[in-house]
Formats: sequence, C-alpha cells, structure tokens
Amino acid sequence: MIFTMATNQPLVIAHRGAKGEAPENTLAAFRLGLEQGCDAIELDIHLSKDGEIIVIHDATMDRTSDMTGTVNKLTLAEIKQADAGKWFDEKYAGEKVPTLEEVFDLVPEHIMINVEIKGSYNRKLELALADLMKRKNRVHNVVISSFDHKCLVFMKLLLPDVRIGLLYDCNIGRHSALAATTGVPVFSLHPNAKRIDKEDVRDAVEQGLQVYAYTINDAAKMEQAIDAGISGIITDFPGRLREILKKGSV
Ligand code: G3P
Ligand code: MG
Repeated sequence: MIFTMATNQPLVIAHRGAKGEAPENTLAAFRLGLEQGCDAIELDIHLSKDGEIIVIHDATMDRTSDMTGTVNKLTLAEIKQADAGKWFDEKYAGEKVPTLEEVFDLVPEHIMINVEIKGSYNRKLELALADLMKRKNRVHNVVISSFDHKCLVFMKLLLPDVRIGLLYDCNIGRHSALAATTGVPVFSLHPNAKRIDKEDVRDAVEQGLQVYAYTINDAAKMEQAIDAGISGIITDFPGRLREILKKGSV
C-alpha cells in the first residue's frame, strides 16, 4: 500500500510493553518491545502497602497474576511471590510484577518511558515517583500521564521540569484547549484514538503539543494516524508499527 508519510515518523510506544505478545507490564514485555524497535514504553503504576512503586495496570493482582488482593494492601515482598507470566502463556511462567525502579534499570536512557499514574494514594504515589525519578536521573526522559489531571499538576509542583501528558477519552470541541485547563505547561495530549481526527492533530501540533493516541493495533488505522501527522502511537504491537514505518520510509 502506498501512503504519504515521508516526513512523519511518530514514536512507536509499546503499550504496557509489547502487550499483544507478552504478559503486560512485565520485564519480558518491555524487553520484547525494545527488541521490536520501540522508541518508548508505556506502563501503569500503583503504590504497595510499604510505599514501593509497582508496575501493574489494575488496582488488584487478580487479572494479571496468580495472586489475588489489592496492590496497596500488599507489601513488595508479598507482591514478588506472584507469578505474572503464566496467565498469559506457560512460556512466561516465573515472570514477576516489577517495580518502577527495576524498569528504570532495564530500559536504556534514550528510550522514553511514559509512566501512567493509576492512583494517587493521597499524593503518596506522586511523592515517591518524584523521589525515584530524581534518584535515578530520569526526570528528562519520562512523560507522566494520567486520566487524573490533578495528579499531573501536583507532579509539576514537585518537579517543575517534568513532562506531563493529559489522558482523556471524550469528545471535546478543541483538543489543544485542554492543555490550558491545567494552569501548568503541558507536554502532550494522550487521547483515545477514536476521539481525535486529522484536524485536531494538526491544531494540537501547531499549538506545540505532542499527540500520543492510544491504543492503535490495526495496521490500516496505524497508517491513518501516521498520515494525520500524529506524534506517537501507543500500541500493543510495536513490531507491527515499526514494520509499517520502515516500509513507508523506503
Ligand atoms: O496510556 C494509554 C493507555 O494505557 C490508557 O489506558 O487502560 O490501557 O491504561 P489503559
Ligand atoms: Mg496505561
């Protein structure tokens, strides 16, 4: 297929790692995303009972491990007892639920990490996150996103240089105008891909915003988003998107 995308090379953002082919939010999924040539990794975080930042999508262990219970009521040592791989495929048996620090240690510094805050836990999570990003020297290559925009404003107070991205899943009149509602500088918009069209993307990019849409897995829809001038595509299949981009640049 021929399509016009010579100038637009959006970031390939591996959603919860290469979620389509490996157990989401595990080191195995992040490694696979890196092997497939992603530019960035998206992951989700919660806080454990003992204040560790845990990389997991749901507030409970139930769906993505062989353990049940609420992440915030378990200690890190308890969470580490869980197998987070074999629910997906027996070949991933033994995968653990990682901490954010373990992901920072795994992912090379030139790869952007999009950390999605899933719960604030009375601001304890944001405080722990700001400390960890400073300690691991990750302030400049992370984008913090959340559907809870107040968390993001608080992150900006803690770390004025941090890049924040607004997640949303609604039809709004002018997407770029959402940035001004926070009262702080916004780096990126993270709309549900179903809610945004080419004009919205063009306007937001002209206003100086990055636009990272989620979650696009279908090849034809990836091509449409590339054609629309999107800045990044959050996908469960980073390898598929990388192949499309390689073909388009020949
Ligand atoms: O960050 C994009 C996307 O991950 C938001 O939705 O539910 O997959 O975390 P969810
Ligand atoms: Mg997410």
